[in-house]
Amino acid sequence: MINKNLIFLLLIPVLLLNQVHVNAVAQDYFLRNIDIERSPKNILIGSYIGGRSHLKPMLDVAIILIERGHNVILLTSGKYEPSSEYPGLKQISSGPQYVTAKSRNIHKDVDYRSLAHLMEITTASYNVTYEKFKNAAKENNIDLFICDPIANHVCIDAANNLNKPVVGFTSSFMQMMDPKPYKSDPMFGCNISLENESFFERFRCTLIQPLQITYAYRPFTRQLNDIREQMNIKSVSGKVPKVTLALINIFFGFELPQSLAPNVQVIGPVLSEEYPSLTPELSDFINGHKRVLYIAFGTRFYATIENNNKILQSIVETINNKIFDGVIWALSETSKDDFSPSLNFADGTQVQTLPILNNIHPHIHITKFAPQFAVLSHTNTKLFFSHGGALSSHESLYTGTPMLILPFSVDQMGNAQRLKSAGVALTVNKNTLDVNDILNKIDFLLKDEHIKKNSKRMKYLARINSNRKYRAADLIEYMLYSISLDEYLDDDFFKEWIPAESRMGFIKANNLDVYGVLLLIIILVLIGIVFILIKYISNPLSDRKKSKQA
Ligand SMILES: *[C@@H]1O[C@H](CO)[C@@H](O)[C@H](O)[C@H]1NC(C)=O
Ligand SMILES: *[C@@H]1O[C@H](CO)[C@@H](O)[C@H](O)[C@H]1NC(C)=O
Ligand SMILES: *[C@@H]1O[C@H](CO)[C@@H](O)[C@H](O)[C@H]1NC(C)=O
Repeated sequence: MINKNLIFLLLIPVLLLNQVHVNAVAQDYFLRNIDIERSPKNILIGSYIGGRSHLKPMLDVAIILIERGHNVILLTSGKYEPSSEYPGLKQISSGPQYVTAKSRNIHKDVDYRSLAHLMEITTASYNVTYEKFKNAAKENNIDLFICDPIANHVCIDAANNLNKPVVGFTSSFMQMMDPKPYKSDPMFGCNISLENESFFERFRCTLIQPLQITYAYRPFTRQLNDIREQMNIKSVSGKVPKVTLALINIFFGFELPQSLAPNVQVIGPVLSEEYPSLTPELSDFINGHKRVLYIAFGTRFYATIENNNKILQSIVETINNKIFDGVIWALSETSKDDFSPSLNFADGTQVQTLPILNNIHPHIHITKFAPQFAVLSHTNTKLFFSHGGALSSHESLYTGTPMLILPFSVDQMGNAQRLKSAGVALTVNKNTLDVNDILNKIDFLLKDEHIKKNSKRMKYLARINSNRKYRAADLIEYMLYSISLDEYLDDDFFKEWIPAESRMGFIKANNLDVYGVLLLIIILVLIGIVFILIKYISNPLSDRKKSKQA
């Protein structure tokens, strides 16, 4: 130690002299060349579910690729209306729009079983959709697929069978792309983290739940494999969908930290460059109120009549108690008939709902649609009462707005847990919604210093990470460049990013065989020791006793 320091001290004059020497000579500089080779390629984006929450982040990356000269085609169910926001994007429909929430019962507890109906629909239309993907790929000379992995085997199968690289792109269920044994999701009947769960809970979540899920999906998995066999399509989805690169629209801080393979990249929050501004009406309302609550449950979800009444009652109470002076509620899927005609308050008063819904109340603004990001960006918006969808959560985190979350389904329950553990939100339960509980939680969210600090922390993280959509585009371009060097994809393709464990198998990758042999050796040695001891205790002892006696 001392020697090393001494040598360093002796070196200092030499280093300083060198410095002086370098500075004395006038140095010329040249600009680092940052050009990369580019030639226009054709990209196909496939999503079965479609809709804003699945497509918007993908298209926000696609538009960067379009601006860089590539052609992008979107293949989804129905038609994505806001695609006009993405000039240059070509659209093909894979069939009728995926059923909207209204036709399903989203008021029940929703877990993995509810996704079975999705599996049923996608399996039934697999053959037709596969042909659409194949034809679209052939007609447009597609070089690379970007697939939303949810309920979308067909996109990943098409890409892999046509021997094209495939990028998996999702905004939720990180667990689907890069599973970790200490993580789970309420969707699968467990908490997002098993870190502090009991042994039995970890046993249930690690062994029992996956078996139950496999069992529940088995009929569809079988049917799907039959169809694949009939159509001569090699199945390539194993435990995780076989993608060359997984892009995940999340950021650590919101998602619980974990290690990642190089071909799994976290690129969120993906946000657009521009968002619709406030309408003059909304602008007047927000500017005229200093403390505004914003309520919206996304474009697919809505509460029961009973819960709508409770929420409306809470709103009126927060205004009466001067917690907020203004409330904006974007009803979206909720209609004005989804409320009772009047609300009964604890103090015996009765309030008619219709005048409130018709915006007669000076401090409550009810609207079908609100430019959400503009509302959240306004300094007067103090709290977001949300369903906890991924995109809404990103927007709220980006603007540093604390959240009260009423999760309905899919990834929302997990997001609610994540946001709560990030210390920026509290959650309420749709089955036990209670006006006083809502009021207490709102009060806490507005006053607590930790919530304020954490919201600022998350806002900073969200902002610095929001540039990573360009990295997503860069990585996709790298793949396009890479395939232009090699005519066809072989097993070596993308080797520079794919960790060995995907080739080694579970046992070898985790050295389980080595530990197994070690265990065996230990057991054998222990048996040996026990054997010797028994022999020593029983025989020699009695021999010694005998000799002593003698
Ligand atoms: C696709 O499969 C369904 C049953 O799974 C069948 O009824 C239909 O005729 C098939 N369509 C085509 C074009 O093969
Ligand atoms: C999840 O964690 C919460 C506490 O954060 C606990 O009350 C609950 O029992 C856990 N398990 C499940 C399945 O939700
Ligand atoms: C589990 O408990 C430890 C110690 O109390 C805490 O630091 C950690 O954040 C907890 N983990 C989760 C996921 O809640």
